[in-house]
Amino acid sequence: MSASNQSTISTLSADALPRAVEWRQGELYLLDQTRLPHEAAMEKQESAEQVWQAIKMLKVRGAPAIGVAGAYGLCVAMRGHRDLTAEAFLAEMDRQAAYLDSSRPTAVNLGWALKRMCDAARRSAAGDGRALYDVLVAEAEAIHEEDRRLCLGMGLNGADLIRDGMGILTHCNAGALATSELGTATAPMYVAQSRGVKFRVYADETRPLLQGARLTVWELQRSGIDVTLITDNMAAQMMKEGRIDLVITGTDRVAANGDVANKIGTLGVAILARYFDIPFYVACPSSTIDLNAATGEDIPIEERDEEEVTAFGGRRTAPEGVGVRNPAFDVTPNALVAGLITEKGIVRAPYEENLRALFG
Ligand code: MRU
Repeated sequence: MSASNQSTISTLSADALPRAVEWRQGELYLLDQTRLPHEAAMEKQESAEQVWQAIKMLKVRGAPAIGVAGAYGLCVAMRGHRDLTAEAFLAEMDRQAAYLDSSRPTAVNLGWALKRMCDAARRSAAGDGRALYDVLVAEAEAIHEEDRRLCLGMGLNGADLIRDGMGILTHCNAGALATSELGTATAPMYVAQSRGVKFRVYADETRPLLQGARLTVWELQRSGIDVTLITDNMAAQMMKEGRIDLVITGTDRVAANGDVANKIGTLGVAILARYFDIPFYVACPSSTIDLNAATGEDIPIEERDEEEVTAFGGRRTAPEGVGVRNPAFDVTPNALVAGLITEKGIVRAPYEENLRALFG
């Protein structure tokens, strides 16, 4: 890492935020994000079932953070199997990895991280369960550390898009809370802020689970970034009033043709941005790019519990018996994406060709 990059890291305001995932003395701790913004509590993970629930219930969420949590989750799952022979350990590891992978389907980072863990164990020369467990821990730590570097890379590559006086719209939380450090969509913001650029972020509240209001606003406020909260249906008006110059969102999976799946409502934001001639960028680390998915049609979209839609703040807001849809993500076609901010640079159309050249 160059000296200038190093000095950028030491001045980034996101450093002061609690981490979504921590591995301390052989124990996994997850920040329970369902309790934010009221309480920032770390929860120790004792079993694979607890990690599965934490991912399912969005205690830990955001594509990269889910990947890192899944990797350490596999260590938690295998901790009690260290006395097995290598063969039995590997068979149990595959079973536990498949179980953890079933917690959420859309973010490719989870399956990517678990596959990487299992591959590392199989590739190693470790001859018994104890040695294999150590390989798993080392690989999870490597994935965690790599995610920090990917965030910084996206930050450095995307920061030049942000200029003094700009209004930037973002959707959901693709921030530090969704990753190991600087976030994806927020990484360019943190780097621009460290360079003294003055800008304002408009955060969509992001119904139904309010990741924008509860998480993005919380982390940007604590980091000293100027942030204004809007409800999702205010984005068009903000654009019409000329307050938005740039949109940056994260993504849970990028298909080979550049279609991007992200939090439900992102597609609407991208369509609005096109109408108002505002560039719509998506920040994604290489761990979120799935070249096995040819197009957005190949990305599994999670459908969540209908109570997330029929209630608000724990109180029912819709009549009993109503039909409900609750897809957690939508797919924005590549034609609406001005560029993908990656750790290797900003990738632009033609996506198929350029993504394969950089990440194939
Ligand atoms: O359901 P969530 O909160 O896990 O959804 C998260 C998002 O949609 C993020 O934008 C995406 O994971 C990118 S995270 C850096």
